[in-house]
Amino acid sequence: IPVECFDLVIFGGTGDLARRKILPGLFRRFLAGQMPENARVIGAARSEMEDADYRQMVREAVAEFGGTEKENGSQLDAFLERLHYVAIDATGDGGWDKLAGLMRDGVIRAFYFSVGPSLFGALAERLHQHGIADAASRIVVEKPFGHDLASAQELNATLAAHFDEHQIYRIDHYLGKETVQNLMAVRFGNVLFEPLWNSHYIDHIQITVAETVGVGGRGSYYDKSGAMRDMVQNHLMQLLCLIAMEPPSIYDADTVRDEKLKVIRALQPVEPHQIVRGQYDASSEGPSYREDAENPRSFTESFVAMKCHIANWRWAKVPFYLRTGKRMKARSSEIAVVFKDLGHTIFEGDTARHRNILSIRLQPNEGMDLQVTIKEPGPGGMRLVDVPLDMTFADALGADQEAPDAYERLIMDVIRGNQTLFMRGDEVEAAWAWTDPIIKGWEARNDVPKLYEVGSAGPDDALMLMHRDGRRWREIKG
Ligand code: BG6
Repeated sequence: IPVECFDLVIFGGTGDLARRKILPGLFRRFLAGQMPENARVIGAARSEMEDADYRQMVREAVAEFGGTEKENGSQLDAFLERLHYVAIDATGDGGWDKLAGLMRDGVIRAFYFSVGPSLFGALAERLHQHGIADAASRIVVEKPFGHDLASAQELNATLAAHFDEHQIYRIDHYLGKETVQNLMAVRFGNVLFEPLWNSHYIDHIQITVAETVGVGGRGSYYDKSGAMRDMVQNHLMQLLCLIAMEPPSIYDADTVRDEKLKVIRALQPVEPHQIVRGQYDASSEGPSYREDAENPRSFTESFVAMKCHIANWRWAKVPFYLRTGKRMKARSSEIAVVFKDLGHTIFEGDTARHRNILSIRLQPNEGMDLQVTIKEPGPGGMRLVDVPLDMTFADALGADQEAPDAYERLIMDVIRGNQTLFMRGDEVEAAWAWTDPIIKGWEARNDVPKLYEVGSAGPDDALMLMHRDGRRWREIKG
């Protein structure tokens, strides 16, 4: 879908996210022919800089983080021509008149707040004071969207003072991942799955987001946050919503988000014995969390595993097991829908437990496979064996169908004015309302996280969480 001409202002335009994701992502969209002629990107940050310096910075960022083979000098030059820079004082007056003078009429105005949430209010206010934002403008904000329910409500109120909800794009980059959207396509574009998508046929669901990276370099942010705030409250919650929601009547931003909200609101509180916190400990593969975070007394969790329930008709008694952790044995993110055992087998002597499992892989090797039971080939009688029906997207669709990075897609959705893959204010608040009591419980009990070795599958207690129920986590494989 073509996009209209735009002026995109990136506050925090020299920051880490802008250099790693936003600008290289925009360049890839430029290469894909999706940046209309005359569309411009205006970097805004505190330091004084000429357009030429900014373009040089972006040239280096694209070289380092571009991740595309296709760029060539002349195209990069053409892209850089679209870039401008304004030095701005977010909390003062400096630079705002210049920015106002740069903005054009008749094009979409989008403002990316790639800055800490403490500046959201000041930026929103100045955009209006200087007549830079209008009723059709869009703003994009990043996580962390608040630290708890109260701070999220405050942020929502701050933004709402200047912008309508339909102008606010809260990014959860997991929603921009190809497979995450495919989850909706698979569920609601096939006749095969939806009839089985309930407690009659599904035994349980597992969601794993395992990372190999640690917190080195981000310790000061992460140590105050922990895996629950950094990953569960947003990314895992979004995955859970898409897996569990009722079919929306149409694929439209508010209809989809209404359904997701119902899931979050139906989540039952999690009892302390249904949740395991972990922290990585040094092993031959690397230093401990405490060393990485430079806090020798830290009790922050770098791992969470939990069992939760959604109190509605469809999911009655179906456990959802979630886990996420840093410095684990492999980078592997997967949603596994584990179907129930057959009630009765007609194959004498077949005592194995055969189960259909639909596995949706987010990374690496985005794709899906469905474990099915077939006859083992050969003359040995009816011996059954479980095999995967594998559909790796790159194989099925061809290698040149390179999926755009999550950020690329989301930025283009902002320009298109499509909020489907962004979190609505009430969704974020509902997610905090569910996580707050869990975190407050840990704080009240001075909960000490269980240690797990760098390069492992997490603490043993997390394995027990499943074993107690006679179930097993799926293997974490890269
Ligand atoms: C971010 C978290 O939101 O997501 C990071 O703050 C985490 O801690 C990252 O590493 C994971 O994203 P991805 O796309 O690499 O799975």
